[in-house]
Amino acid sequence: MNQKPLGPEGPRVSVVGFGGMPLSIRERPDEATAIGVIHAALEAGMTLIDTADVYCLDESEYGHNERLVRKALGEYGGAKGEIVVATKGGMTRSGSDWGRDGRPERLRRSCERSLRALGVDTIDLYQFHAVDPNVPFEESVGALADLRKEGKIRLVGLSNVSVDQIETAEEIVPVATVQNRLNPFFREAIDDGVVACCDRKGIGFLAYSPVGGGRLNRKLPGHPVVAAIADETGAKPHEVALAWVLSRGKSVIIIPGARTAEHARSSVAAERLELTEDQKKAIEDAEFSIA
Ligand SMILES: NC(=O)c1ccc[n+]([C@@H]2O[C@H](COP(=O)([O-])OP(=O)(O)OC[C@H]3O[C@@H](n4cnc5c(N)ncnc54)[C@H](OP(=O)(O)O)[C@@H]3O)[C@@H](O)[C@H]2O)c1
Repeated sequence: MNQKPLGPEGPRVSVVGFGGMPLSIRERPDEATAIGVIHAALEAGMTLIDTADVYCLDESEYGHNERLVRKALGEYGGAKGEIVVATKGGMTRSGSDWGRDGRPERLRRSCERSLRALGVDTIDLYQFHAVDPNVPFEESVGALADLRKEGKIRLVGLSNVSVDQIETAEEIVPVATVQNRLNPFFREAIDDGVVACCDRKGIGFLAYSPVGGGRLNRKLPGHPVVAAIADETGAKPHEVALAWVLSRGKSVIIIPGARTAEHARSSVAAERLELTEDQKKAIEDAEFSIA
């Protein structure tokens, strides 16, 4: 599979990475199935796994997805040398609610818990999950810079950030990646200049929810433009959406989630789908209702 770098100093990874979230939140599969899905993703050529401490059902099981990734990697028979695991800190679960906590001391505790959950001495890529409006952004980023200096994390990433925040963070620590939402339904990462900024700076842009997330992805097969391109190309509707996201910038890496091996393999197949300029424009111009 094609590879792209995780920032100017980072390793190259497959342009289709694995989004771990659906394997640990509601409607998750049993553990053996989940491990099988991760193995299928790796066998198909993915070398990036995206996880987070908050990919779990509630606060009683922080790190569920990280422990799952650790177990899947431990049991994986294939080559593991090039696999990069990216995790995140800075969010909370209270029941099934998602919250934010970007206090430096909490980020440090979360990072240490993630190190234990993943069973590593250094986290390959640690991402600040979401800006906490109650904590100065510079303080949260400063905590990640400290953790990097101490060797607990190799690369620093940001998530759910603006161009201004990327530039503020760069004054504190090298930024390897930015993880924001990008799919046919939500294109704010294009409109607000974040993808262009990552292209310009050589920062890896990790497109999350690339087929629209758990609910909206189900609308893709019934979308007239997507369905027509799927017919023309012989690809599946989700693959059409993924190929479009991938075409949006030279820094773009997609991290689709999956609960089945079939979906993970299909996402890998999307990388081989070259849309024509007309097909890209048709998606560009089409309306994608989120109702
Ligand atoms: N940084 C953040 O704030 C943030 C927020 C959301 C997500 N993320 C990350 O981004 C990853 C992806 O986002 P997501 O899981 O929300 O949404 P997504 O990638 O848009 O996928 C949603 C669902 O679409 C289905 N799907 C995906 N690819 C498919 C394919 N090729 N063929 C058929 N169905 C397909 C899967 O359904 P099934 O489950 O039925 O297989 C999947 O669970 C997450 O796993 C997580 O790692 C980050």
